[in-house]
Amino acid sequence: MIKLKIELFTLRYYHDIIDLWKRSGIEVGSSDTKDEIAKILKRNPDLFLIGKEDGKVVAVVIGAFDGRRGYVHHLAIDPNYQKKGYGKMMMDELIERFCKEKVHKVHLFIEKHNKEVVDFYKKLRWNIREDLIMMSFVPDKCLYKRDIDI
Ligand SMILES: CC(C)(COP(=O)(O)OP(=O)(O)OC[C@H]1O[C@@H](n2cnc3c(N)ncnc32)[C@H](O)[C@@H]1OP(=O)(O)O)[C@@H](O)C(=O)NCCC(=O)NCCS
Repeated sequence: MIKLKIELFTLRYYHDIIDLWKRSGIEVGSSDTKDEIAKILKRNPDLFLIGKEDGKVVAVVIGAFDGRRGYVHHLAIDPNYQKKGYGKMMMDELIERFCKEKVHKVHLFIEKHNKEVVDFYKKLRWNIREDLIMMSFVPDKCLYKRDIDI
């Protein structure tokens, strides 16, 4: 029986999602401090979702819309609750919300060491973009840090 209850994230659950990301192997960096999470939440209050089972936070996904493209960040299901359809439920809910906001296209990024997740997204009808090369730039080296201790 599906018991996942999906709701909007609020900062009250900040420590729950940090714990969830760490336990599910997602590196938390300088964009995941409480202030930074508050920032993305403020811009995307209807796209930042958590999922609870019996009151416990077991799922999280950050959806974001920059006015042109949608983005999916940090989808994670508690390792003890994976392979129950919860990842698909979270993504289905998020996609429905992107549809409501009339977003034309949504992107997500998978780190190469996490290649096995590609098959999960393929099942949800996402396509790999062979025609794109992703490039990044750090405007202020003082701000950006990977894998910090939160
Ligand atoms: C990837 C993740 C979100 C999947 O969540 P989940 O709840 O286990 O996935 P679901 O149970 O909803 O799976 C949906 C379908 O995808 C399949 N699937 C799930 N994980 C898979 C994987 N790693 N490889 C291949 N297929 C996978 C399931 O078997 C299921 O297929 P079915 O419908 O034919 O039964 C979860 O494994 C996770 O949190 N991983 C760690 C964090 C992470 O890597 N996040 C992604 C960052 S880009």
